[in-house]
Amino acid sequence: MITINFLNARWPSLNIMILAAIICMAQSADAGRDPDPNIGRQLYQSYCLVCHGPHGDTKGPLAVKLNLKPENLASAKYQKKSISEMALIIGGYERMAGKKMPIWRRAIPESNIEHIAAYIAQIKSTDLRFIGDPRRGRLIFRNSCVACHGSRGKGTGILAKLIGAPMSDFSNPESVKRYSDKALLMIIRKGKDKFMPGWEGTLNNKEIIDVASYVRSLSK
Ligand code: HEC
Ligand code: HEC
Repeated sequence: MITINFLNARWPSLNIMILAAIICMAQSADAGRDPDPNIGRQLYQSYCLVCHGPHGDTKGPLAVKLNLKPENLASAKYQKKSISEMALIIGGYERMAGKKMPIWRRAIPESNIEHIAAYIAQIKSTDLRFIGDPRRGRLIFRNSCVACHGSRGKGTGILAKLIGAPMSDFSNPESVKRYSDKALLMIIRKGKDKFMPGWEGTLNNKEIIDVASYVRSLSK
């Protein structure tokens, strides 16, 4: 308190600047913490799938083994809740008595719980089998996609310039994030509009999943 008083007396404008900087930092930290379903998906796979199953609607292998009855997370009961309501339930703040699910706030930081809640909000439109190997996807991308999409998917490939096609920048989080996994795989399988070719038949299913994972990883 003494230092603050001292600062106040001597350099009031400096004080305001420090305060403004602190507020800016707090705000940008908040923005970075937006619940992200892509992060949530990986966390879900690590912590929840064993009991709730790959689509949230079936028993995972551990639930079967322990004869647990996990709730159906894809059901309307949970799908109509907001992300923050779900985060409270998962964190165990709003747990009803006698429930058998772990109290996750003891094991997972709150921001990660929100990422998981964001993933659960779209669990019906995504496909966990989608998780491929982005490192292998990178090699496939270099072979099959770079000519148009450019290195790291910036949209600056030579062919794109030749055909004059408008390309999105995959490193921009707004570009492919708007697609669910299913939609993203569909574009790569079947193609899009005039110039994006479909890869089904040229790449096998595993390769398509790997390259889609790589495309996703570009905007992280
Ligand atoms: C060890 C098995 C197990 C794991 C792992 C597990 N759950 Fe559960 N979960 C359950 C069971 C069993 C229930 C049914 C309710 C109960 O008895 O607690 C449940 C219920 C729930 C509910 C509903 C709770 C309520 O009060 O309505 C949510 C939401 C949920 N789980 C989310 C998750 C999330 C998210 C994860 C991963 C971070 C996860 N679960 C991991 C077993 C598990
Ligand atoms: C012959 C050029 C060409 C090649 C090769 C190509 N693409 Fe494309 N791709 C395009 C064009 C052009 C678009 C934009 C289509 C549109 O939105 O109008 C596009 C769009 C996309 C989109 C959707 C982007 C968005 O924002 O809507 C994805 C995802 C994609 N391509 C992935 C791939 C992958 C993965 C490969 C390699 C396996 C690949 N593309 C190879 C030309 C190509």
